[in-house]
Amino acid sequence: MTVGKLQQQASQYMCSLKGSLLTLAILTLISFTYLSINSLQSSSSSSPSLSPLASGSVVKQLQRGTDIETETDTDTDAETKENGKSFDNEMPDLYHQPQIFKLNYEAMERNFKVYIYPDGDPNTFYQTPRKLTGKYASEGYFFQNIRESRFRTEDPNQAHLFFIPISCHKMRGKGTSYENMTIIFQNYVESLIAKYPYWNRTLGADHFFVTCHDVGVRATEGVPFLVKNAIRVVCSPSYDVGFIPHKDVALPQVLQPFALPAGGNDVVNRTTLGFWAGHRNSKIRVILARVWENDTELDISNNRISRATGHLVYQKRFYTTKFCICPGGSQVNSARIADSIHYGCVPVILSNYYDLPFNDILDWRKFSVILKEQDVYRLKQVLKNISDDEFVALHKNLVEVQKHFQWNSPPIKYDAFHMIMYDLWLRHHVIKY
Ligand SMILES: *[C@@H]1O[C@H](CO)[C@@H](O)[C@H](O)[C@H]1NC(C)=O
Ligand SMILES: *[C@@H]1O[C@H](CO)[C@@H](O)[C@H](O)[C@H]1NC(C)=O
Ligand SMILES: *[C@@H]1O[C@H](CO)[C@@H](O)[C@H](O)[C@H]1NC(C)=O
Ligand SMILES: *[C@@H]1O[C@H](CO)[C@@H](O)[C@H](O)[C@H]1NC(C)=O
Ligand SMILES: *[C@@H]1O[C@H](CO)[C@@H](O)[C@H](O)[C@H]1NC(C)=O
Repeated sequence: MTVGKLQQQASQYMCSLKGSLLTLAILTLISFTYLSINSLQSSSSSSPSLSPLASGSVVKQLQRGTDIETETDTDTDAETKENGKSFDNEMPDLYHQPQIFKLNYEAMERNFKVYIYPDGDPNTFYQTPRKLTGKYASEGYFFQNIRESRFRTEDPNQAHLFFIPISCHKMRGKGTSYENMTIIFQNYVESLIAKYPYWNRTLGADHFFVTCHDVGVRATEGVPFLVKNAIRVVCSPSYDVGFIPHKDVALPQVLQPFALPAGGNDVVNRTTLGFWAGHRNSKIRVILARVWENDTELDISNNRISRATGHLVYQKRFYTTKFCICPGGSQVNSARIADSIHYGCVPVILSNYYDLPFNDILDWRKFSVILKEQDVYRLKQVLKNISDDEFVALHKNLVEVQKHFQWNSPPIKYDAFHMIMYDLWLRHHVIKY
């Protein structure tokens, strides 16, 4: 089913202003439905057939009120058809639905509003990030970026979503125990529930929090509705633990600042087939090292590269390798994925049940290799079977997505912050007070 067809159908039903409103509603819905279907059938790339569901929901959305109208400029339709097309041509492969993404992203930039609860002493755990470096920098960047962005509103009545600005990373930095973290989180949320009317309207369904460390996720479990209803933006999104793919959002784990500049246009220098070095803190890493440590084509260390080896030796390997192996550690995620993307080394995802960041928007198979843990034994065979042309295409696409996996301050269009905001925007469509 193409967007074009839908647009035609839509304009047959309504030929005026309403037509463009309906079109946008349909596009928005398809994008959300696509997301859900995609989560359910992760490997299928065929177009989902979703007409009954979509049309039913469109009617429901339109009946629900004027929300869609306020989100639409009347000239959007004509304007975006053009832009959508060139966007489509530019990057035909990377997005599941380039036109829908483009349209809906722009609607998000124009309209999305988030209310940040102002409560809490910024010197303790609230409001401000701990730091913008290290393995959990993504949490700090989000806290900082949302304040710098135009998405923030001081008027809760204008807000689509409510941000609960409490930082578990900051608590950890101050040495707070896990038990105390849970209590602090619970007390804070309960104070917001008592003071403001917003939580009680949906029991938290239009609220979200952001935490990168998995300890932060567990610390929120003292408030059951945070788990059941609120949107959790987390770095460790695994299908087989508490993460709920249709509601929660995968936060990319990005270790910034990067030690060296981005890679790209450098396939001639990529002479090593595969690379991994790191802590063996998970079963898959132990197996990876055991199976491949002495291989002459795969550069797999059975430990971290010591600093004594030389300046930035670890990072420089990413420039000379075709495929960087990214096995999960204590969680499915690893900062190595964003490192690989940054340095232009095609990531090989070796985690089961990982809801990859922006999976609903980006087609990861166009810029990475996604394997199951059990594939570790045939890793070399799989990588050697990827032709030079296929590798060049993967690498080229990888360079295109670098911008989506990078934080900036202030944030810029299409960066990691905006992609997270877009995922939140998609979720706000199904939560209406
Ligand atoms: C936990 O909270 C209790 C009570 O406030 C305090 O006495 C204790 O020192 C805290 N422990 C840690 C590790 O933060
Ligand atoms: C929200 O509901 C809870 C539980 O019923 C109640 O204790 C609290 O006062 C309510 N909040 C507001 C602002 O009314
Ligand atoms: C390839 O590596 C050499 C030596 O490190 C470097 O001088 C050159 O700039 C690299 N080429 C590209 C395209 O990055
Ligand atoms: C790799 O080489 C080391 C040293 O020769 C040896 O101890 C180890 O068993 C080898 N590993 C494998 C998987 O062959
Ligand atoms: C090698 O690649 C081809 C197509 O690219 C695929 O059909 C085949 O199954 C692959 N073989 C292995 C062993 O992965």
